[in-house]
Amino acid sequence: MTFDEAAAVPQAALLALQGLRDKGQIQPGQKVLINGAGGGAGTFAMQIAKSFGAEVTGVDSTSKLDMMRSIGADQVIDYTQEDFTKNEQRYDLILDVAAYHSIFDYKRALSPKGIYVIVGGSTAQMFQAGFLGPWISMTGSKKMGILMHKPNKDLAFMKELFEAGKVVPVIDRRYPLSEVAEALRYFGGGHAQGKVVITLEHNDKT
Ligand SMILES: NC(=O)c1ccc[n+]([C@@H]2O[C@H](COP(=O)([O-])OP(=O)(O)OC[C@H]3O[C@@H](n4cnc5c(N)ncnc54)[C@H](OP(=O)(O)O)[C@@H]3O)[C@@H](O)[C@H]2O)c1
Repeated sequence: MTFDEAAAVPQAALLALQGLRDKGQIQPGQKVLINGAGGGAGTFAMQIAKSFGAEVTGVDSTSKLDMMRSIGADQVIDYTQEDFTKNEQRYDLILDVAAYHSIFDYKRALSPKGIYVIVGGSTAQMFQAGFLGPWISMTGSKKMGILMHKPNKDLAFMKELFEAGKVVPVIDRRYPLSEVAEALRYFGGGHAQGKVVITLEHNDKT
């Protein structure tokens, strides 16, 4: 693993792993949808879900669909063209990195015993999931809730997935330390494909 690749792992990959495995209880053969699949956490989530033997659908914008296929997506959905909460497909697990719909839209897209895990998105959706998720989970067969990230847990697990060739960090851009402000501007725009990494010198030490 290069320094650049190592720098990309700690937060994004652990959000994805903990969301899918710990909160989402992912199982082989399940239909799993990753919303926001082309960004930092999403690109890890798709590869991790595949490594667990799931059938994976990735949702993101038009320019990211080819990249998402290249890292293993079985199906891709362009959210600018299609609203996955309104089609007929149902998912056993939805990991949501970019939640902008009502929690009831996501609930509809779940299979009868499906699980919805929100990782990130708008503040309103985070609050909604925080307040209504436990109530929905107690009163029906579907489970809905927020992931609370546990920093640094599972780094050894990610190392094993990397060594097995099952997960490769997707790095969009590398910026030298002197260009951190520009890097944050680009990342803050929310359109990066995978991760943005800061290097001490171009392409060697991170
Ligand atoms: N739960 C926790 O403990 C915890 C801890 C740390 C961070 N977080 C949160 O986790 C999230 C991590 O995200 P990240 O680093 O992966 O962000 P990111 O790299 O910006 O990725 C977000 C992706 O979502 C896409 N997107 C935007 N609008 C969308 C929509 N309506 N439908 C589907 N996809 C959409 C973006 O693509 P385009 O914009 O190009 O369309 C982008 O590819 C952040 O929200 C952060 O606040 C949570």
